[in-house]
Amino acid sequence: MIKKIIAKKILSKSKALSLKTKFLTSKHYNTLIEEDCDAYDNLGNLLFRFRKNAIPFDILKSGVDAFESSIELTESRGSASGSSHKRIRKDGSISNITVGNKVESGSVGYMDSGAMVKYCRKTAFARNHFDKFKDGVPFVQFVDKKYKELCPKHYEKQKAIADGTNKNYVIDGTSFTTVTVNKNFRTACHQDAGDFKEGFGNLIVYREGNYDGGFFVMPEYGIAIDLHNTDILFADVHKWHANTEFTNCSDDWLRVSFVMYYRENMIKCSSPKQELQKTKIEKTGYLTL
Ligand SMILES: [Fe+2]
Repeated sequence: MIKKIIAKKILSKSKALSLKTKFLTSKHYNTLIEEDCDAYDNLGNLLFRFRKNAIPFDILKSGVDAFESSIELTESRGSASGSSHKRIRKDGSISNITVGNKVESGSVGYMDSGAMVKYCRKTAFARNHFDKFKDGVPFVQFVDKKYKELCPKHYEKQKAIADGTNKNYVIDGTSFTTVTVNKNFRTACHQDAGDFKEGFGNLIVYREGNYDGGFFVMPEYGIAIDLHNTDILFADVHKWHANTEFTNCSDDWLRVSFVMYYRENMIKCSSPKQELQKTKIEKTGYLTL
């Protein structure tokens, strides 16, 4: 039996905005979702679909084993890390690179041109550990299948743009270009950016040891969701969201979370050969043929 809720907004736009980069707690929700549930706003827009036991454990574990080594300490997670500011150079000037707090996070799959690197490419993980990356593809394909099944309208649009993208930058047979992998990372309040806006977000969590909390909370609606192994959440990640604190953690506690998405600028990627030319132009200032 799938519970259906119409979620009322409990925060004004400005109140919600004031939560940006803040860490949220049990004060920010009044409903905790622990079973299958579909939630809509009062206009009938889908807010989330949550399904227990949707991913076979062996497929989940193969994804964890494959992608875990992509995780590194990084300051590239922006407001989700609890801070987002321009990097200050040693000479005191302000660079155009945005950085945040250091968190354990990785990127799997492909990246488009950004502030640091001006061409489309494999992520460092996919480049340096291509066999491992390949081993995790069935996990991504499984999530893609659930996406199609549970959010068909959003999926159709995302799959169309993925199908129109140079296939060297799309995870084989899916609507995703990239997977973010986070370890024991309590995200601060943020809205996702850089993903395909007409798509729908997702979250998968792998847990070891024991901990409580770490709920996915949508403060505007006062709703939190408790994800366990093999659960899947599709959520409107363009709404404000965060994790609550982790409590009662055993010494061996582990939480690896996965977010799979299509990077919106990847439709502009050319063939790898042409992208390589861009690196040469960037390095030398000349197009070398
Ligand atoms: Fe997010």
